Amino acid sequence: MLVAGNWKMFKGPEEADAFCRSLREAELPADVDVVVCPPYVSLPSAVQVLAGTEVGVFAQNCHWDAEGAFTGEISAPMLLELGVYGTIVGHSERRQLFGDTDETVARRACAALDAGLHVIACVGETEAERDAGETEAVLRRQVSVLEHDDNLVVAYEPVWAIGTGRTATPEMAQEAHEIVKSVLDVPLLYGGSVKPDNARELLAQPAVDGALVGGASLDLSSFEAICRAGSLS
Ligand code: 13P
Repeated sequence: MLVAGNWKMFKGPEEADAFCRSLREAELPADVDVVVCPPYVSLPSAVQVLAGTEVGVFAQNCHWDAEGAFTGEISAPMLLELGVYGTIVGHSERRQLFGDTDETVARRACAALDAGLHVIACVGETEAERDAGETEAVLRRQVSVLEHDDNLVVAYEPVWAIGTGRTATPEMAQEAHEIVKSVLDVPLLYGGSVKPDNARELLAQPAVDGALVGGASLDLSSFEAICRAGSLS
């Protein structure tokens, strides 16, 4: 069971430092792998404060080249140099707002894995795609560009459930996860409005191996509660 908190563009270095100090003192369940994904500028604070703990620190994106003329991008070797353990790639906000495609997501994932980072690769359909009955085709297309790797985890995040308070039902999550797993058999997280009060039911689904949490990961008590909900489920 893995619970990852995607902070998105929240918590600068000072706030990250304070949050991670509290997280270090929190009683996290031993059977849940816990990860935080701060913005780039807060990665050094998080890595430093969480050094020697079981909490992993991931970035939110990673370029496919080691270096080059790519303004605003960060490479896998740079993240490794900081002591970062892994990275998210292909989040729907990157796909929808910043032009990531299945191809660039695959390149990012592949380069990060080759460099030795762990990867959480995100997939998920939009509301229009679900309404048009295209969920399965979209998931198959998005997942088929990824290659199996022991350090790869996929996150199913239906776009219509992200930051909306609308969560996929546990049955919808299970159904989507079965589709993804039929294409690529890797651990699979559910993401999209995961909160302390719905986490247990979602995480209890047999094909749900963890959660990728946005808003509710920014508050320590709700993040802890979701981590606890993952314990023994
Ligand atoms: P919310 O939990 O805020 O809906 O965000 C989900 C998400 O995008 C995590 O990557």
